[in-house]
Amino acid sequence: MPSKRTVVCGAINSAALGQSVVVTGWVHRRRDHGGLIFIDLRDRSGIVQLVFNPDFDQVAHKLAQDLRSEYVILAKGVVAARSAETINKNMATGEIEIQIKELEVLNKCKNLPFALEDAHKVDEELRLKYRYLDLRRPEVTEKFLFRNKVVFAMREYMHNSGFCEVETPILTKNTPEGAREFLVPSRVHWGKFYALPQSPQLYKQLLMAGGLERYYQIARCFRDEDLRADRQPEFTQLDIEMSFIDEEDIMSIIEGLVKAIFEAAFKQKLNLPFPRMTYDQAFSQYGSDKPDLRFDLKIHELSKIFAETEIKFLQAALSLPEGKIGALCVPDYQFSRSELDQLVNQAIEMGAGGLLWIRFDENGLPESPVAKFLPNNFLAQVQTLVPGATKSSTLFLLAGDYQDMWTYLGRLRNILGKKLNLINPDEFNFSWVTQFPLFEFDRDTKTWNSVHHPFTSPELGWETKELKDIKARAYDLVLNGVELGGGSIRIYDADMQARVFELLGVDPDTMQRKFGFLLEALRLGFPPLGGIALGIDRLIMLLTKSQSIRDVIAFPKTARGYDPLMDSPTEADPGRLDECGIRIMERTEE
Ligand code: AMO
Repeated sequence: MPSKRTVVCGAINSAALGQSVVVTGWVHRRRDHGGLIFIDLRDRSGIVQLVFNPDFDQVAHKLAQDLRSEYVILAKGVVAARSAETINKNMATGEIEIQIKELEVLNKCKNLPFALEDAHKVDEELRLKYRYLDLRRPEVTEKFLFRNKVVFAMREYMHNSGFCEVETPILTKNTPEGAREFLVPSRVHWGKFYALPQSPQLYKQLLMAGGLERYYQIARCFRDEDLRADRQPEFTQLDIEMSFIDEEDIMSIIEGLVKAIFEAAFKQKLNLPFPRMTYDQAFSQYGSDKPDLRFDLKIHELSKIFAETEIKFLQAALSLPEGKIGALCVPDYQFSRSELDQLVNQAIEMGAGGLLWIRFDENGLPESPVAKFLPNNFLAQVQTLVPGATKSSTLFLLAGDYQDMWTYLGRLRNILGKKLNLINPDEFNFSWVTQFPLFEFDRDTKTWNSVHHPFTSPELGWETKELKDIKARAYDLVLNGVELGGGSIRIYDADMQARVFELLGVDPDTMQRKFGFLLEALRLGFPPLGGIALGIDRLIMLLTKSQSIRDVIAFPKTARGYDPLMDSPTEADPGRLDECGIRIMERTEE
């Protein structure tokens, strides 16, 4: 019996007609046709059809009768052309089959917990419990081969651009990057904890202090935050840092990288450079710092028009300190009453308090719950502020605090984009958002926080500005409405760094304890620097048009941070807890 395969399933074609081959793999499908048995044999490269006929070999044919789904086999035979009527044009190997003369069952497979072809229908937790079965599905395998191709293109591009790959520690100290960290107790340092890195941020800055000039890493990051379809507690970044550069250098390196990825993955050329807009432009026009630019539905401010009307709740909204009225103007779509009600409900669910719609009759007169308060020339007034508004347009308005209302309008914009099919699902739309605010005010804790992280450099002239008006030298890369990456030019002056900590409310003792090493390094010949990190999982999710980031991670956690395969997290052995001086408290009802 031959013991080694000579060719992979997906690579066999008419060029091999008449050749003797040995193939291995899993029984994908089995069909019995009277005397003939057909097996679709699957390995990583694809699927090929095996034919068992007693005339080719009686023993092999007999053995094949017992084959079941997912048996692992090795088979030897001769490549033959399929008859014209059995050629399968949809299959790479569809013109040939292998007439089997020897068969060896390498391993059996008992009843599967779910049929692989039905995997998309089963509960995700069950699928993840048997992720190794799920991974065997060709469409899933394909995602990982694709991911490999992209990551390889990244490494090649970074290497060719003079970047040095460096691994940074996983057991580290907490850094203020916005998310909660996972803690790891230390046995040796009683009562102390390591933190898992949210990102290699401080290490990469210190690598620049170390003179490496161009660093990158395919870095694993850990964040203990609420999970969503595009977030996991552990994920991978392409992490980059450079010395002696400015924003333009980082952006052009990233644009070149994305171009190289598209060429490697899709053999497709991209238009460069990517469009740019400031944070203020993005937020005022799209109600988001990551606008989906695949469709052009902008927010318009209509405060001016309503300042004159007698609609009480609009007047009240306008009298707020940051009170404004914003509107989305949808052209040429007839919303039914139930569609309008549904949109109002969606806005209420977001917390918007309501949603005012206004449409027009054939004479251009307004129809709306507030129609009687609107002037007859209302449409003409709207047209002065919303170019392109017509009597077939529908307006959706929100009134209140600018930040809140524009955020809701931004979400509503995305809902309308999907509902009205304004989005081309095949488009990849990249853009940069720049000049973010450096700080944001947390209304709950009444404190100022960094929008990115506290190592981000403010723009020139920041010292004399109010905190809310200071802009950061930060930039985000956005793809189809998803934040794909973010970075900044960093502070490299110790006094500026200390001042920023101070503005964030960090007292001198804490500053010394937490960031003393950084402040010291900044005084020991620190070069100007900047960098960026791209979310690799998110990128692959978008490029493969996957529904969730979990689809492109080999062993992901569920939305509740649970790994059904390994059953983790689990309790620790009491002995191990003792060694670290940890006692688990009784859980009290919150
Ligand atoms: P930031 O926090 O913006 O920046 O992260 C960079 C990118 O990482 C991805 N990402 C995630 N992907 C999956 N699951 C998550 N929980 C998750 N969180 C973030 C996103 C995001 O754009 N140190 C800075 C970078 C820098 O300043 O150089 C940082 O980590 O795609």
